Amino acid sequence: MCGIVAYVGNRESYPVILKGLKRLEYRGYDSSGVAVISDKIEVYKKQGKVAELEESLLGIPMKSTIGIGHTRWATHGEPSDRNAHPHISKSGRIAMIHNGIIENYAALKLELLKKDYTFSSDTDTEVLLNFIEDIRKHNACSLEEAVRIALKRVVGAYVIVLLDLENPDTLIAARKGSPLVIGIGKNEHFLASDASPIIEYTKEVVYINDYELAIVKGNELILKNLGNEVITPFVQKLDMELAAIEKGGFNHFMIKEIFEQPQTIFDCLRGRLDLTRSDIMMAGVEKYIDELKNANRIIIVACGTSWHAGLIAEYIIEELCRIPVEVEYASEFRYRNPIVNKGDVIFAISQSGETADTLVAIERAKEQGAIIFGILNVVGSSIARISHAGAYTHAGPEIGVASTKAFTAQLVVLTMMAIKIAKEKQTISEGRFVQLMEELSAVPDKVAAILKDTYVVERIAAKHATASSFLFLGRGYNFPIALEGALKLKEISYIHAEGYPAAEMKHGPIALVDENLPVLFVATKDAYHQKVISNMQEINARKGKLIAIVSAGDHTIDALTDDIIEVPEADELIAPIINVIPLQLLSYYIGVSRGLDVDKPRNLAKSVTVE
Ligand code: F6R
Repeated sequence: MCGIVAYVGNRESYPVILKGLKRLEYRGYDSSGVAVISDKIEVYKKQGKVAELEESLLGIPMKSTIGIGHTRWATHGEPSDRNAHPHISKSGRIAMIHNGIIENYAALKLELLKKDYTFSSDTDTEVLLNFIEDIRKHNACSLEEAVRIALKRVVGAYVIVLLDLENPDTLIAARKGSPLVIGIGKNEHFLASDASPIIEYTKEVVYINDYELAIVKGNELILKNLGNEVITPFVQKLDMELAAIEKGGFNHFMIKEIFEQPQTIFDCLRGRLDLTRSDIMMAGVEKYIDELKNANRIIIVACGTSWHAGLIAEYIIEELCRIPVEVEYASEFRYRNPIVNKGDVIFAISQSGETADTLVAIERAKEQGAIIFGILNVVGSSIARISHAGAYTHAGPEIGVASTKAFTAQLVVLTMMAIKIAKEKQTISEGRFVQLMEELSAVPDKVAAILKDTYVVERIAAKHATASSFLFLGRGYNFPIALEGALKLKEISYIHAEGYPAAEMKHGPIALVDENLPVLFVATKDAYHQKVISNMQEINARKGKLIAIVSAGDHTIDALTDDIIEVPEADELIAPIINVIPLQLLSYYIGVSRGLDVDKPRNLAKSVTVE
């Protein structure tokens, strides 16, 4: 959360920073700001989206070849101009941007208040900045040294980048727990929270590690640890194209990403599913196959949509591999002293690979001897770097705040892993193995078939766009899909929605049902089909407005409702990957018809790097 961009080199910094902030806006968008150097440090900031900052700066000359910029997701202090970053120190000689949380900021602030410091914002960032300035003043040391001393006192997570009037050609940056990438150009450097602001200029990047400090000039990058030892930067080549982070003719990233799914699912299968040799090739799984097939238990940790993918994986792994699986919210797991034994394997599922709760949860489990397996989308992310092994989802950059293509790619990877482990463990027959491989290989075409004609979903969306509440129900493999449908709708349309196992409805939620409540059933053909139809009858008897996702050609419930979305039939283990597509579309079309910014829903951010 919060996006940071900085530039030092030979071109004007402001246009580079502004463009970068727009690309990083998915990380937070309640305010933004930039700081550049002329004969003094000039700071401009504005509550609202980056476009509002841009408009407020029209006509202001920004002649500087160094600068820092920030787009904020508020933690300390409400969204406002004064809490926006960059912050400027008491002397006006240092400016700083920050992504993360300084947990002991109150104690640091007290120390500074005793020295007569005053603060113009409510942020932890301004406290840390003045703490650094105070150290520099009292020790008569360089800014680099002051940052190093200060960070030894800091508890929390941060990426900071500082601009210093004393050294107007140098940026100082440091990281712990939040991401920072440095792009290396010709006599120029680009700093950002992820590679999207950098890709346009260079593909050579260095991912900064925790407790590292970067001293960056146009023609020089020095990396050090907090002990002042120089570290050799590890330069990597980005495997990403500019087109992947642009809208490409769609109105929103969310709908672009929904429509990309036939391709992203294909990419995820490519090179792994080998139908001719009847095998699945996944290097990380093969490397740890003994640990995986002999695991006492698999513990899945994740948040949000990724947690829903984990719930489906639980059902599939237990069914196919006969290994007990537990699915944990990372934010609970990290604080509740969980029992992790040798022989347990942790699956960390995360699109961004940066979610703070997931990151810390697996650090705890790793300390207790567990093998960590990451199912991640962002290559080189923090979780990727602390996992023993893993499998990337290859969905490409996901910019829309609501996760869509990353979710289906997670399901594909998890299903392939389960099938592979089951084969190695001999808990499924060769025939079933081949059948599931064939089912998986058919998924891109089935998803494309749904996307070919979205008329029915759009019609149903228009009909229910003014609802104030929604219920999503499903059983078995489709229960987590009901949860995901509810989460998508809440995020994108701000309609209250709940997901439930269809049979659990009788134990409470049925009291909500009346003639105003849309109740969506995920009711494709599977072992629960008849039971789900009975649950629909129960809703119908109470006059709820039924909507159903059914297998193509299934007319069993035609008499109960007109709002029926048909999807191609699939094996029940594979069906969730297909059944979620109309739910993504439904939330998108409802959000759009309510006039909302579906790519940047209020209060949310794409990458949740605070706990
Ligand atoms: C929902 C959504 C979030 C994320 C969650 C975890 O649409 O995007 O619920 O799934 O914040 O994020 P990652 O997968 O990056 O760890």
